[in-house]
Amino acid sequence: MNEQETEGAFRFTGGDAYERFMGPWSRAVGAVFLDWLAIPEGRRWLDLGCGTGAFTQLLVERAHPAAVVAIDPAPAQIEHARARPVAQVAYFRVADAEELPFDDASFDVVVSALVLNFSPNQARALAEMRRVVRPGGCVAGYVWDFTGDLSVTRHMTDALRAIEADIAPMPGVKSTRIEALKAMFDATGLIDVDLRTIEVERTYPDFDAYWRIFLENPSPASAFIQRLPKAEYDDLRRAVQSSLPIGVDGSISFAARANAVRGFAPG
Ligand SMILES: C[S@@+](CC[C@H](N)C(=O)[O-])C[C@H]1O[C@@H](n2cnc3c(N)ncnc32)[C@H](O)[C@@H]1O
Repeated sequence: MNEQETEGAFRFTGGDAYERFMGPWSRAVGAVFLDWLAIPEGRRWLDLGCGTGAFTQLLVERAHPAAVVAIDPAPAQIEHARARPVAQVAYFRVADAEELPFDDASFDVVVSALVLNFSPNQARALAEMRRVVRPGGCVAGYVWDFTGDLSVTRHMTDALRAIEADIAPMPGVKSTRIEALKAMFDATGLIDVDLRTIEVERTYPDFDAYWRIFLENPSPASAFIQRLPKAEYDDLRRAVQSSLPIGVDGSISFAARANAVRGFAPG
């Protein structure tokens, strides 16, 4: 992922490489998620942890909101998002989920796409989400399930684990379980909490594309791989390649699973 670790938090930098790495995955999950939410048109939305704006664009296209504010603490991601056509509709700004610069009850819907596990204080972020949604409004989100067998990065992480690579683990992995999402929403006082899993598939044209897209995106794993001596680098590359389902035309398609949750502010 397009993240760099700092003390207790991952910082996302740059936009283009992240977009190539996660954009297609993000849009595929986001479309199913938005259909599931089925929010009527003309609502005021907050998109929390918008990154490069991939999900923001989708929500504008599919949910026809009255207004959208999209925030992210990473200035480079916001800069990328502001260059999208969707910035004519959505207002992008730098801000942190744990300290939202909005009045109470400012939004009808507050969503976070692939974000919650990255927040160092998830209880605080959820309390803020609940604070800024109106009574009866919807709070919802989804995260990749990093605990299951359909993690989006599993082919890389399995091969890295096999060589005992010393890489900082993905933050908040346990909180990506569906039961953990339910517990967090219940603890925040949200009601009518509902859950679902979302499985989506992505196709890469060939293994070179898969490998390049992963490596060009700054992350602890990609930095580690690029520092490997040539022989070990080549071994790892072969191990990842042999673990992927490669079609007769050389393309690679596989599925990944996200866990989604939604609830409502009482009142
Ligand atoms: C995996 S990206 C998802 C981006 C986008 N929502 C999407 O679906 O493509 C996670 C995003 O969460 C943001 N993030 C991390 N910690 C955050 C926090 N405390 N508050 C808001 N956003 C945060 C990161 O900067 C990053 O852009």
